Amino acid sequence: MSIKKISALFGFALLLTAKFNFAQELGILPQPESVKVLQGKFVFSGNTAIVDKESIFSIAAQEIKLLKKNRTGGLSNQLVFTRDASLKPEAYRLKILPEQITITASNKLGAFWAVQTLKQLAGTNAFKTKNTWVLPALEINDQPKFSWRGVHLDVSRHFFDIDYLHRFIDRLAFYKFNKFHWHLTDDQGWRIEIKKYPELTAKGAWRKLNNQDSACLKLATTNPDYRIPEKHFKMIDGEKMYGGFYTQEQVKELVSYAAGKGIEIIPEIDMPGHMQAATRLFPWLTSTGSVQKEKNFTDPVCPCKETTFEFAEHIFKEVAQLFPSKYIHLGADEVEKSSWKNIPECEALMKHENLKNIDEIQSYFVKRMEKYFHSLGKELIGWDEILDGGISPTATLMYWRTWVPTAPKHAAEKGNPIIMTPGEYCYFDAQQDSHSLQKVYSFNPVGFGLNESEQQYVLGGQANIWTEYIPSEQRLEYMLFPRMLAMSEVLWGHQQDFKTFSRKMDRQFTVLDAMRINYRFTDLKGFAENNVFLKSAYLNIEAPKNAVVHYTTDGSTPKISAPKYTKPIYIDKTQTIKAAIFGADGRMGDVFTANYVQTGYVDAVSLKNPKPGLNFSYYPKFYKAVNLISEADKTKTATTAAIEIPVEDKAGSFATRHQGYFYAAEDGIYSFFLRSDDGSVLKIQNKTLVDNDGMHFAIEKSAQIALKKGYHPFELLFLEGGGGYTLQLEYSLGASKRKAVSASDFVIE
Ligand code: ACM
Repeated sequence: MSIKKISALFGFALLLTAKFNFAQELGILPQPESVKVLQGKFVFSGNTAIVDKESIFSIAAQEIKLLKKNRTGGLSNQLVFTRDASLKPEAYRLKILPEQITITASNKLGAFWAVQTLKQLAGTNAFKTKNTWVLPALEINDQPKFSWRGVHLDVSRHFFDIDYLHRFIDRLAFYKFNKFHWHLTDDQGWRIEIKKYPELTAKGAWRKLNNQDSACLKLATTNPDYRIPEKHFKMIDGEKMYGGFYTQEQVKELVSYAAGKGIEIIPEIDMPGHMQAATRLFPWLTSTGSVQKEKNFTDPVCPCKETTFEFAEHIFKEVAQLFPSKYIHLGADEVEKSSWKNIPECEALMKHENLKNIDEIQSYFVKRMEKYFHSLGKELIGWDEILDGGISPTATLMYWRTWVPTAPKHAAEKGNPIIMTPGEYCYFDAQQDSHSLQKVYSFNPVGFGLNESEQQYVLGGQANIWTEYIPSEQRLEYMLFPRMLAMSEVLWGHQQDFKTFSRKMDRQFTVLDAMRINYRFTDLKGFAENNVFLKSAYLNIEAPKNAVVHYTTDGSTPKISAPKYTKPIYIDKTQTIKAAIFGADGRMGDVFTANYVQTGYVDAVSLKNPKPGLNFSYYPKFYKAVNLISEADKTKTATTAAIEIPVEDKAGSFATRHQGYFYAAEDGIYSFFLRSDDGSVLKIQNKTLVDNDGMHFAIEKSAQIALKKGYHPFELLFLEGGGGYTLQLEYSLGASKRKAVSASDFVIE
């Protein structure tokens, strides 16, 4: 039957479907609360009049005027800003009719977000010199679910200059983030000018290359994004030093620029720990007067000396004047409190203030700083360590330690506001793999065991990006995008399902291209890293729509001049294929390796009395690699159905072993996908099949094995070094869809 006939029969239904699809294909990101597509189009051009009678929407009007191209004739239509005081602060209505666009909001922020939605509707045209946008008639009612939609950037470990930060702010605004958490100081560099202590930037902003820089330079031999930009080096006293800082004038200008884009900047001066950039210059700030390095974290400043408070107060007094935000972030994470033990000043303070332990010394410091912040008219934010030793009732908690799952509940029970940045979802310094985007999309800022009444304390969430191994703007954008888009949709709060989001991403990639953002391409799919074949096989690569793949068969890294992948590659000998992604502009993405080895089937073993389950063992100790796990450290055994860890109060660092037999339901090639944080190793038939060992964020490794039907010895070793863990094992048979292992896959004898 022809399409015409079908539509004659089912015209009404098709019309509805078309409208529905059209609404989805608008691809607005983050998804608005409600979208209704109407009939017709509006042509936005140089001849569109911008009408802002009340002048309250200046930042939005300014933004749209900048996008308007030269007038070529008489005014043809108009864009009108109107006010409805009943709308919430960031809410807006956007009505597009063929003659007029109406943006309604109660204040400038709502109107500004409406303009970002218009830009989203314009797609790539919003970033090109094209002077007309054809916009669909529609009606959008929109508002964010969360008032805190943040992105954090560490500029201490690696420095990002003020010019780049303007672009960074533009990107945040386009995706309707409204907070920029600026991590301005840390052990590796002090980045904000403090007039009272000029040495902090004259000396503290510069360093000789450190271990992290060396690691970056090593990686730069194969990936130029790891190069350390020459512009951040300077000769000081005859030595080439790395670093940089922001003058107070630059800070004020950026704060004002960001405010013009709906973004509030929150400064973080991290204390009492992470202060080595200052303590190296002023060792009297520490308890011992020296600057040690051997422990987990660098020695903090000493909260038991008045001189420390004098120093801190001078700094925060200047900081408070630069940032209109009501918040200042004090940090207070990862403090090496042991340096406060057996110090006469600390013993005296503990006695005087009735402090029972070193946690309470930290709490004393934070609470006293908070009082000072209040005197400056500011509120305090701290990382979730501010719970230790007792949290002040008025502080705002920034949750990050996924391995302390009770922290948000403890804060909410006390009525403290919470900003959710749990590492597992929100740490964008974590390497990306094919699961990362979906992981961010599954972030629920009001989860974490909070009941309905406790959820009201959640202000929102934030992506954090720590830059130890992010030395360049290109690398930063690779780490931010596209995860930032998933975060934007989660925090604006009207997300749909991941499939719909992924479809919308196709359009966003073209927009990111137009913005010249070095985003990470979607992973190549269709193969494991280590593959086997019996006689021959085809490597069938699924490539992202917005890219092409070039490959080599000699183990070398593919250049764009290497053969282009156009059809499945026939494999009939043991070899390595390397496949690299390239964008339309020739930009190179990740390189994927597919090793192929010719093998035969591995025979099954016979079992007399198979029973469901796996033998589980638990080792509450820190190991760097799974081959160091010692049976002498075992404290618990159990039988598990599949890959569970049935231990209630897990140690901060631990290892596990699951052992038994994997049941191959038929002869075939099995692909195993092992994802873990930290290390794991899968052994089948007593041989390592997947090696995902070592200390790392959640990443996946995969390998194939040809198994005869029946039982095969199985062992999965895992270690968690600290900081929250992930352990997932999936498999597929032949070309079937992969699935998580489950109880029916395992037996023991
Ligand atoms: C942190 O990641 N140390 C807050």
